[in-house]
Amino acid sequence: MAYSMDLSGRVALVTGASSGLGAQFARTLSRAGAAVVLASRRVEKLKELRAQIEAEGGDAHVVALDVTSMDSIRAAVAHAETEMGAIDILINNSGVSTTQRLQDVAEADFDFIFDTNVKGAFFVAQEVGKRMLGNAQLFVLTRSVIGTLRSASLEKSPLLQSPALEDTLLELVWALIGERSASVQRR
Ligand SMILES: NC(=O)c1ccc[n+]([C@@H]2O[C@H](COP(=O)([O-])OP(=O)(O)OC[C@H]3O[C@@H](n4cnc5c(N)ncnc54)[C@H](OP(=O)(O)O)[C@@H]3O)[C@@H](O)[C@H]2O)c1
Repeated sequence: MAYSMDLSGRVALVTGASSGLGAQFARTLSRAGAAVVLASRRVEKLKELRAQIEAEGGDAHVVALDVTSMDSIRAAVAHAETEMGAIDILINNSGVSTTQRLQDVAEADFDFIFDTNVKGAFFVAQEVGKRMLGNAQLFVLTRSVIGTLRSASLEKSPLLQSPALEDTLLELVWALIGERSASVQRR
């Protein structure tokens, strides 16, 4: 497939690149010319994707990342920049979900979702956004980061789908890097 967007010379950090949407984001960005940093916990899966991207002529680097750990976030972003240069594009995609009915959700389930999808995404955006300050050529994409607790009787938990939480994340990115210099989109 041909891509009209030329991202040659750009560096993209894709969190949650070991499967699903994140892996596809990484392939697509690479085919558009970007160098991609593949980040998540399952490094072996990332290495498989790196091999696929390199076989297509792309440039990919693997970095271990657990978004529930502040130390891991800082180390992964620093490592990504050391290896590939300044990050131009953030695909803030790491996420988890659970499948309990709403009335069966335990505190540990709630914490699991929020630690990854809200807190994790927030601090990934912060760490990358801080480093983007002063860079006038930015494209930042954050996906919809709020996880879903599925339920037979109530398919989506309104609490965990709160648009206010997503807005908070987007506003953080805008505050850090300036709305005029960035394109911030939900997915
Ligand atoms: N598929 C859809 O239709 C859809 C629609 C809207 C939103 N979403 C959301 O988009 C996200 C991706 O969806 P998907 O279907 O691609 O799911 P997926 O295949 O399960 O991918 C989730 C990714 O998040 C990573 N991840 C999970 N916990 C992490 C952690 N603590 N630190 C770093 N990475 C972590 C996983 O990598 P590791 O296990 O290697 O860490 C994996 O690569 C999910 O949050 C999902 O809820 C999906």
